[in-house]
Amino acid sequence: LIYSILFLILFYIYFYYFLYFKQCCTFLWGDANFPNGHSLKGSINSGIGKATALALAKRGARVILACRSQERAEAAAFDIRRESGNAQVVVMRLDLGSLTSVRRFAASFLKTEPRLDLLVNSAGVMGPGRTEDGFGMAFGVNHLGHFLLANLLLERLRRCGPSRVVTVATVLPRLGRVDFPLLASRKDLVSGDSAWSVFQAYCSSQLCNVLFTRELANRLEGAAVSCYSLHPGAVHTCRGLGAWLQLLALPFAKLFFTDAEGGAQAVLHCALQEGIEPLSGRHFSRCTPQQVGARGRDDAVAKKLWEVSERLTGLS
Ligand SMILES: NC(=O)c1ccc[n+]([C@@H]2O[C@H](COP(=O)([O-])OP(=O)(O)OC[C@H]3O[C@@H](n4cnc5c(N)ncnc54)[C@H](OP(=O)(O)O)[C@@H]3O)[C@@H](O)[C@H]2O)c1
Repeated sequence: LIYSILFLILFYIYFYYFLYFKQCCTFLWGDANFPNGHSLKGSINSGIGKATALALAKRGARVILACRSQERAEAAAFDIRRESGNAQVVVMRLDLGSLTSVRRFAASFLKTEPRLDLLVNSAGVMGPGRTEDGFGMAFGVNHLGHFLLANLLLERLRRCGPSRVVTVATVLPRLGRVDFPLLASRKDLVSGDSAWSVFQAYCSSQLCNVLFTRELANRLEGAAVSCYSLHPGAVHTCRGLGAWLQLLALPFAKLFFTDAEGGAQAVLHCALQEGIEPLSGRHFSRCTPQQVGARGRDDAVAKKLWEVSERLTGLS
């Protein structure tokens, strides 16, 4: 019985993520275009972000790689320029775990870059510790950093419309929750530092990304800026794992998960697909709009999170 259950689970994962996901994404490349667009990719020196930046550069976009490590970003930019033949790939320093860095980055971006057509929020951390400003790592980087960045660049996005804000999240928002009293007392969405708390903090930050997108769409109603959150599928980037875990996980991951290029298809769909503007604010999975759980559809919580985030980032 145990073997049968195991077999069924593996078959389900194989079918759902490997076959179905890959098939759904093959149509993307055909109809999307990005002539002379200007895009800003948050954290792209690896994984899904780098694959997305490469695809945008191949379409002729001027791509700004916003990364915390100058060295890794320069290496990624070199690869992207070489593979795409596009010299318009620029590196700028951005640490989403520091509100000062986000402000410095935005000021410098607005001074030097006249256009912004697409903002892709793709950085993501799952780990212990605190940001420079004392927030829980996942909440501070995955939500607050992106929240402040998008707000500081919103006017430029409006002026360059039609433009888009695309935020990578996961299917995990269903497991997250936004506890406002806890946030006020601990500057975090979880109360402990155990491995389970770290995982919960990650899920909750992903829920924040979904709620942020929802409220942003409400606030942008009537503007030529649309926004989407998306789950890129199960992607074998495996970077957060230690060397031994990577060795163990890689064969399994390669067999059942898609690669970074496959994950990038989901981002590119929300970034480039024509005609999805009426779906602004929605969450996508495998290139189709997905119904998120009740917590991800709670407009009152989304509004409150926005107001609290404005206070926490010094915007109000
Ligand atoms: N892989 C999956 O199966 C999967 C599934 C669902 C959702 N996602 C989401 O997809 C996104 C990309 O994931 P990935 O798989 O491509 O992982 P990844 O390769 O680890 O990419 C994460 C990126 O975030 C950047 N980052 C982390 N902390 C930062 C900070 N403080 N400031 C600026 N950049 C920072 C990292 O930059 P450094 O190089 O400096 O560390 C890295 O480039 C994440 O948001 C993740 O949550 C992934």
